[in-house]
Amino acid sequence: MRTAALWATVRELVVDRADALGRPLRVLDLGGGTGELAVPLAELGPDLVAGVTVVDPSPDALAALARRAAESGVSGRVEGRQGDADTLAAVVPGRDFDLVCCHGVLEVVDDPALTLRQLTAALTADGDLSLLVSGRLAAVWARALAGELGQALAVLTSADGRYGPHDPLPRRFDLHELTGLVHDAGLQVQRWHGIRLLADLVPSSALDSDADRSALLAVERALGEHPAYPFLGELGAGLHVLARRG
Ligand SMILES: C[S@@+](CC[C@H](N)C(=O)[O-])C[C@H]1O[C@@H](n2cnc3c(N)ncnc32)[C@H](O)[C@@H]1O
Repeated sequence: MRTAALWATVRELVVDRADALGRPLRVLDLGGGTGELAVPLAELGPDLVAGVTVVDPSPDALAALARRAAESGVSGRVEGRQGDADTLAAVVPGRDFDLVCCHGVLEVVDDPALTLRQLTAALTADGDLSLLVSGRLAAVWARALAGELGQALAVLTSADGRYGPHDPLPRRFDLHELTGLVHDAGLQVQRWHGIRLLADLVPSSALDSDADRSALLAVERALGEHPAYPFLGELGAGLHVLARRG
């Protein structure tokens, strides 16, 4: 898992919802890749997570997912299916998931608004969405600190938040735009937070040891929770939104 803050938020949601529903959750992870989220979710145990279905277009990723699930002893509750945002309805016809995760995927799909509507349709009437996307502002800061001021301006002002044709990401999001898309898909935003507020700005040479990395996490957590600076989350390299249907 790339960030402790992201995992802590998802785990807390699972624990709360399984408790509220009085049964384990059925989870869908669109673009779940090699199971970096799906396997830890299944490892929470059958009392909390009945099963995780990963839909991903990459056969290699799905093979790695199967290996990871087997090594962790959760193969029985992790299922990979080849598909993508466009084929979701056909690939998972049951579509009654308590929790749908979509992390690092909305940036690359053809039509984010359509994908969010598809994900909403896959949820139970009061199901939850965990959505993680790349934030635009963080990329503005990162390009500026790298001395690429033209690229910083392009990220800020272009429609898709890209810095040019060599940008590896097809799209980045503002919080405002993202929460608008979520709302238009029929979901209510429950909470949001920024993740990796500083991680991409600190030189890697300053993050050599576990102590360095813990120190970074401590500053990021303190910034994220500081009551005087609620807007700082918008500077996260990742914007994590939790939303509920209904
Ligand atoms: C950046 S990775 C994110 C993986 C994982 N969700 C995570 O957060 O670590 C993007 C994933 O989306 C998958 N993907 C690419 N295009 C997709 C599409 N149109 N629909 C669904 N998944 C897609 C890729 O195969 C890859 O596994």
